[in-house]
Amino acid sequence: MTEAVDVLIVGGGAAGLMCALTAGRRGLRAVVIEHANKVGKKILMSGGGRCNFTNTGTTPANYLSANPHFCKSALARYTPWDFIAMVERHRIAYHEKELGQLFCDVSSKLIVQMLVDECLAAGVRIEIGCAVERIVHNEGDTGFRVHTARGGFAARSLVVASGGLSIPSMGATGFGYELAKRYGHNVLPTRAGLVPLTLSGKHQERLQDLSGVALPVTASCNGQSFSNQMLITHRGISGPSILQISSYWQPGDDLRLDLLPGLDALDWLQTQQRERSAAELKTVLGEVVPRRFAQRLCEVWLGNKPMKQYNLPELKQLAATLSEWPLIASGTEGYRTAEVTLGGVDTDELSSSTMQSKRVPGLYFIGEAIDVTGWLGGYNFQWAWASGHAAGQAV
Ligand code: FDA
Repeated sequence: MTEAVDVLIVGGGAAGLMCALTAGRRGLRAVVIEHANKVGKKILMSGGGRCNFTNTGTTPANYLSANPHFCKSALARYTPWDFIAMVERHRIAYHEKELGQLFCDVSSKLIVQMLVDECLAAGVRIEIGCAVERIVHNEGDTGFRVHTARGGFAARSLVVASGGLSIPSMGATGFGYELAKRYGHNVLPTRAGLVPLTLSGKHQERLQDLSGVALPVTASCNGQSFSNQMLITHRGISGPSILQISSYWQPGDDLRLDLLPGLDALDWLQTQQRERSAAELKTVLGEVVPRRFAQRLCEVWLGNKPMKQYNLPELKQLAATLSEWPLIASGTEGYRTAEVTLGGVDTDELSSSTMQSKRVPGLYFIGEAIDVTGWLGGYNFQWAWASGHAAGQAV
């Protein structure tokens, strides 16, 4: 039995559900195929269970892509305020955490429930635990024949919303990339983003017993900087500043950490020398960074003596190390813990206003499968909503 539908959406995550409810509201027959045992698993686990569902400061500058212009059209046509209006209509309480990041007060479950309710109200059918077995589309065909564990579909449009490779245990697959390649699309190399960095050898040995220590830093790499907390872990470094910079870092790249963000290090050291001349470096440093960390810095990287004993060249050297601490990262924790996948379906192959393939009419790619990756802070969901909405209006 083959069922005729207007649009078949593969993947019941953030982008797929948004696309489905948008298409359904237009009166289209839309079916979502999700191979996991429930939809929106990443939404459920996001934001520590409270889903950082958007960022009110979203701009195209918050995204990484080989074509930084690609995301502009979709983001402009479905803004954070559009999503907030839906959240408010469903009376979901939320709050701003920092820098425009909006989180649910109670639970991410409410966001998934809202999307499912909107889908059902729009007449969308959601098939969970349903795997795609085969897709048939020959050149010149209008539409796609999709064979699934629950029977066949003949769909006028096929939307690939299968996400990226991060957290395979949550159902992530390379389905979208493989399908894109099969139909002749270029797929840009993928790698883990928003991911903890690992250290090895001496660097790891020197820090691993400080696991759990956190401090504010400015992390810089390849012309980008992020100021926020850094967390020392058993295997390396994490925390928001490190997750952010990880998307810009690749093995061998120079990572610089300013351990006194917002302070002019030399100026600060000279002030300490003037005002606390008998105090040791580790003591004064332990007042601005966690004490155990200050002690380790002095033992391994800086040395230690009373402030009055430093001459100017020595103070300059200390200032340089403190403001550009050259920690060498050896790798990342990989897809197992990454929040996102960088790279993906080349945006050159897609229309930026509809997400439709330029090669195969009727085929659409949305969300994380595309080479558009947001910063930490609600930007990735905003891209999922915006790209899902763009395709939902076009199919
Ligand atoms: P998503 O991964 O959501 O959905 C893809 C769906 O397709 C999945 O349900 C998957 O099971 C399904 N699928 C895959 N292959 C399939 C196949 N062959 N057949 C059928 N179904 C298939 N972002 C943010 O903005 N704020 C936040 O707070 C967080 N927090 C966060 C925490 C953690 C731990 C992670 C891992 C990620 C985040 N993110 C985030 C990122 C965010 O979750 C992510 O960018 C979006 O979920 C991407 O939406 P998509 O719909 O593209 O993929």
